[in-house]
Amino acid sequence: MGRLIIVSNRVPSPRERTQPAGGLAVGLRDAVRGGSSMWFGWSGNQAEGDGDPEPSIDTVEGVTYATIDLTESQHEGFYQNFSNGILWPLFHYRVGLMNYSRRDWQTYLEVNALFARTLVPLLKPDDVIWVHDYHLFPLGQALRDLGVTTRIGFFLHIPVPPWSLVRSLPGAELLLEDLQAYDLIGVQTDEDADNLNQSFRVNGLTERARAFPIGIDPHEFRAQAETGADSGEAERLHASLRGAALVLGVDRLDYSKGLPERFRGYEALIARYPEHRGKVTFLQVAPVSRGDVEEYRVLRRQLDELTGRINGAYAEFDWTPIRYITRPIARDILAGFYRMADVALITPLRDGMNLVAKEYIAAQDAESPGVLVLSHFAGAAPELDEAVLVNPYDADEIADALHQALTMGLDERKARWSKLDAEVRRTTAGSWARDFLLALDEAPRAPPTPAA
Ligand code: ADP
Ligand code: F6P
Repeated sequence: MGRLIIVSNRVPSPRERTQPAGGLAVGLRDAVRGGSSMWFGWSGNQAEGDGDPEPSIDTVEGVTYATIDLTESQHEGFYQNFSNGILWPLFHYRVGLMNYSRRDWQTYLEVNALFARTLVPLLKPDDVIWVHDYHLFPLGQALRDLGVTTRIGFFLHIPVPPWSLVRSLPGAELLLEDLQAYDLIGVQTDEDADNLNQSFRVNGLTERARAFPIGIDPHEFRAQAETGADSGEAERLHASLRGAALVLGVDRLDYSKGLPERFRGYEALIARYPEHRGKVTFLQVAPVSRGDVEEYRVLRRQLDELTGRINGAYAEFDWTPIRYITRPIARDILAGFYRMADVALITPLRDGMNLVAKEYIAAQDAESPGVLVLSHFAGAAPELDEAVLVNPYDADEIADALHQALTMGLDERKARWSKLDAEVRRTTAGSWARDFLLALDEAPRAPPTPAA
């Protein structure tokens, strides 16, 4: 059997305890364990010179990590501007936030070609290649152009809007054509698969998308949550609550996560249900993400302002309604916080999957599980439909859902949680990767396409 070659922009650092937040790295790290595999991507560092960078190679627990540096201008055009300033808002249905520029598209193509050039010498003939996410749409075609004939699959971790929105990107059909170089394209939900296949169809291309919802490793996460709940940090959090219920939010600081809407929803709870004042604390952990992109800086200022305003209006000298942290937190500590939380408040305006929702379920104590309040627009919602589902745009609906969650009896909590837990255990990170790779093995081969 050949090796599995994972390619993604973000690669976790195998030797660090605190990892950057993000579902792709977490989901895949759980999936690659135990096989012969190589993970190729960006190092997170800046390249010194202008020539092609040499990959740095590190092998940890059977997985080889090969990463390359990017120059400042490559990073800016490829990652900040095209991937996160154009594709990210577009695919999250936020066309108005898209800052299109032809020059950034050019850099995006150049960096994809660089990834292909530096990856090809590391490949063996029977490797299977699995490319991840919107940073690398054209990579499959760039590899084919260099003569790679092995199987190449692609997985998109973010949502896919209908063609009527995708076509707002000038030249969107070129991206769709590039996607034809993959033998199989996985997306998170049936809705995403329908939308992508519709885009292929109206452009006269082959429908190659299928839904493979990503999962977590629930056993490992549960064990981490049990350890984390016994940690000194969890003890300190518990003591500081002084009996108040804990509502927890955990997300990268991203406008797709609906954070201002969530803060207003929580404000509506304490405004309209005064019995919760002093009896509940909302802890939002939102590590800064993509801080060089203007829309993310605007969001950060907005949240700073909202937190200050809400706390200023409702705090007592011995009670703070919102605690807001913008640093990453070690995974086991975070898992312990999930276990302690009475309610998880996860209300993205759009999200590919949202692994935090699945992690929260896995972390619960079966004897007294907490309640998940989840947006209809998370990719996890179709699977986790026993959660209290909300429309995240309606602050009053969030407030009512929080009240329902905070006052829910033990029997209902247990009944909902056991169904949710069965779902989280049904599709795991491991089964997701296995299902995709099996389907890739059986997929009809993409026809060879002429080099551009
Ligand atoms: P996204 O991929 O958009 O970031 P997900 O919810 O799918 O969203 O994945 C986020 C991942 O990052 C989860 O595994 C979560 O545990 C982790 N994470 C989120 N916030 C933090 C944080 N503050 N510190 C450490 N890990 C975090
Ligand atoms: O899951 C979506 C995603 O964009 C991943 O591709 C990415 O690794 C993660 O979120 C975190 O974002 P970034 O890599 O830009 O820090």
